[in-house]
Amino acid sequence: MTPVNTFEGLHITGATKLAGVFGWPVEHSLSPAMHNAAFRALKLDWAYLPFAVPPERLSEAVRAVRALGLGGINLTVPHKEKVIPLLNDLTEDARAIGAVNTLLVRQDALIGHNTDAAGFNRTLRSAGYDPAGKLALVLGAGGAARAVVYALVQSGADVVVLNRTPQRAEVLARSMPGHVTAGVLDSTMLSMYSCAALVVNATSVGMWPAVDSAPWPDDVPFPYNALLCDLVYNPRRTCLVRWALSAGARYIDGLWMLVYQGAESFRMWTGQEPDVGIMFSAADQQLGGQGVATFNGR
Ligand code: ATR
Repeated sequence: MTPVNTFEGLHITGATKLAGVFGWPVEHSLSPAMHNAAFRALKLDWAYLPFAVPPERLSEAVRAVRALGLGGINLTVPHKEKVIPLLNDLTEDARAIGAVNTLLVRQDALIGHNTDAAGFNRTLRSAGYDPAGKLALVLGAGGAARAVVYALVQSGADVVVLNRTPQRAEVLARSMPGHVTAGVLDSTMLSMYSCAALVVNATSVGMWPAVDSAPWPDDVPFPYNALLCDLVYNPRRTCLVRWALSAGARYIDGLWMLVYQGAESFRMWTGQEPDVGIMFSAADQQLGGQGVATFNGR
């Protein structure tokens, strides 16, 4: 991995506003690199730090946000759901998704927000893709899938969610503010939806170190006309991406979703729009510099 000094060029003084991420573990987070690069580019007197917060100390850490005068906090695994009862209020998106990835510090209140849905919508928009009226197939029913399904329902897509544990997909579908079809993730169901226009991998299958696995079985052709959005970004070119490309489909690099959800948090904290290209390059460098892939759109 290329060593990157993400704090290079940051001058921390008594006036510097601090933001950060609470996670456990947190050492592999790409967020410090992304946010610090964006602060630097806009010459904002902000800095972003990783905080390793063990699960049993989350409430202490959340109480400290106001005491320390922090400007904003991200939450990652395993805190996104556990943090909810510790907050004063939730935004509509956080309530619907059932998870918080961003804390907004307002006067004396801590508001829980979720930028994953808005980040996903911006990812599609930046690829020039409008899911309205199209058949969207979401693989997985965990936290990431909830945000994606919520975003797609709001965009007017026709959504099908398939999961290894179908009961989880059914619970997800029932909790959404629009009609969502749920089923089991297997060859039969995937064959039934081979006309999907959009496929989103929101499972963890294909993620390092199990890089040779894919959530799509070899015996079912990938829909050649579809756009694939694989939320796995390490590695950037997953087994599923290679499979989709060999079928002639298009794809959006999974790192964009991470960047756009981060950009949404950044905007809400600072009131400024960060440069997503700079955030993308910083995250990519942190992953070892696999190069800036955009979309292989036709
Ligand atoms: P996140 O919050 O990041 O979405 P999660 O809640 O742990 O993480 O969800 C992981 C998703 O990947 C789930 O949909 C999980 O399926 P189950 O609900 O059946 O556990 C899915 N997943 C993980 N490993 C899988 C595998 N080997 N095959 C198929 N799906 C898998």
